[in-house]
Amino acid sequence: MRVLVTGGAGYIGSHACVELAGRGHELVLVDNFSNSSPLVAGRLATLTGREPELHRADLRDRAAVDGLFKGRGIDAVIHFAALKAVGDSCRRPLDYFDNNIGGTIHLLQAMRAHGVGRLVFSSSATVYGDPDGVPVREDAPLRVTNPYGRTKLVMEQLIGDLCTSDPGFRAVNLRYFNPVGAHPSGLIGEAPGGVPDNLMPYVCQVAVGLRERLAVFGGDWPTVDGTGVRDYIHVMDLARAHADALDFLVRGHRSASINLGTGQGTSVLQLVRAFERASGRAVPYEIVDRRPGDVAEVYADPSLAHRLLGWRAEHDIDAMCRDAWHWQSRNPGGYADGPAAPGGAAAS
Ligand code: NAD
Ligand code: UFG
Repeated sequence: MRVLVTGGAGYIGSHACVELAGRGHELVLVDNFSNSSPLVAGRLATLTGREPELHRADLRDRAAVDGLFKGRGIDAVIHFAALKAVGDSCRRPLDYFDNNIGGTIHLLQAMRAHGVGRLVFSSSATVYGDPDGVPVREDAPLRVTNPYGRTKLVMEQLIGDLCTSDPGFRAVNLRYFNPVGAHPSGLIGEAPGGVPDNLMPYVCQVAVGLRERLAVFGGDWPTVDGTGVRDYIHVMDLARAHADALDFLVRGHRSASINLGTGQGTSVLQLVRAFERASGRAVPYEIVDRRPGDVAEVYADPSLAHRLLGWRAEHDIDAMCRDAWHWQSRNPGGYADGPAAPGGAAAS
């Protein structure tokens, strides 16, 4: 198939592109590089043996989005492009609604105009807010707690309404738990700008010497060791699920919302110890106050993904830490710092 990948230069999108190319799909990537680097194109060329077709465009530009579909024979869309930082979304909610929902409306309009009826959408476990219990199933109540989460929920609802109104339009919402890790080559990975919000990139930056110590947000949670528990999922497992979700739509199945997690909870301190084992580096930390908005324990019931997609996570926390460290140690400052890769960015 010819697949349009929005946000294809980003962390999860770039890994999905490697998996999709490996399964023989032809890819058209679009990104505005608001949170990524055009240098990813060269790395993707190395990994896939082919220079990606990568367009610089913003999904808020309706004409540009429509133009991406013209004459390209797009069969399906995977929609990663979004702003994704919870704290940032509390500071500038209008930008999040404008970018995430505005961009998605233009994408859906262009899909309808060009008769493209298959969509895989990047949703998030954030739609469950503070769940009543774990493991979290897809039929758990949806109640978001921040503007970023609200944009994800509104986008799921928007897509759901479109599926109801048009039997020719089908979608899979993939609700990711906590994506971490990197491609085992160390050529692509997560490259956050500024101070990382999330645990694994922060731990990586401490281990590589960019930051002094990790602040552990709370040591008094009602969990195994008092620190927060999450369901970390290797980005290569996530990548595989996107290709499986496309196959699911091609087989003609109805629309669905599906959790992507391992089903295993890992505490902050368990992750720190696994990372120290994998990297051979010490990760100094101190326990500080809880972070506002955090919850004690969230992990997935991933059984629906197995039933519908035949998908299961294969990587454990040790592999996640090993690959995150491999990427970080090869590219201490992100893409600009890494080993030179053949081929230039094909951004248009
Ligand atoms: P990312 O920021 O690395 O990737 C998103 C990409 O979209 C970036 O390359 C960015 O430049 C691009 N983009 C943003 N707005 C755009 C616009 N208007 N037009 C064109 N390009 C635009 O983030 P990621 O971690 O790869 O996340 C991908 C998706 O998965 C997002 O939708 C995110 O909300 C969702 N998600 C991520 C996580 C996580 O922890 N990483 C968890 C759950 C869900
Ligand atoms: N944590 C620390 N120190 C840090 C960063 C995080 O102790 O510097 C702790 C948090 O308190 C939490 C755990 O590490 O207990 C994981 O925190 P992350 O920020 O890595 O991830 P969250 O579960 O808070 O949230 C992430 C995304 C959300 C998304 C959610 C589920 O940021 O957008 O995963 O997909 F909704």
